[in-house]
Amino acid sequence: MNGIQARALIALGSALVLTACGTKTDQPKTGAGGGQKVTYLGKESIPKDKAEMVFQQTCMACHATGVGPVITGRDLPPEAIKMFVRNGNRAMPAFTEAMIDNETLDRVAQMVSTSKAPAPQPAQ
Ligand code: HEC
Repeated sequence: MNGIQARALIALGSALVLTACGTKTDQPKTGAGGGQKVTYLGKESIPKDKAEMVFQQTCMACHATGVGPVITGRDLPPEAIKMFVRNGNRAMPAFTEAMIDNETLDRVAQMVSTSKAPAPQPAQ
């Protein structure tokens, strides 16, 4: 995936978050592509669980799109993951406790640490 596609995916993700906060309708969301259901990283809805939501919407926005390195399926230690999240590293932004509270971060780090490797992406 190239940079432009990654940015497009992130833009799509932000649009979904915004619409989710707005009006609730039962209408299927349609994308600019015309009649196509908008999915975010293959998901059709935003997870209700807080940690799941941060993992999918925040971390995977970069780490499943080629913006950041793959972090799933690598058995990364939770302590190291939390260190990266709290402090950031070069292109990785830091997330404060106001953004992701400690309890949620513990669970996110656990999820990343025990996650399976991502399925290979189909050629685009
Ligand atoms: C804005 C994009 C972005 C977001 C959002 C983001 N990361 Fe990152 N992350 C990066 C980039 C880019 C790097 C590589 C940093 C470098 O080495 O320059 C990175 C590095 C990492 C690393 C180190 C991986 C390695 O192999 O060195 C971990 C662990 C990590 N991120 C975890 C997370 C977690 C957990 C979240 C969600 C809370 C998250 N990141 C959210 C962009 C992001």
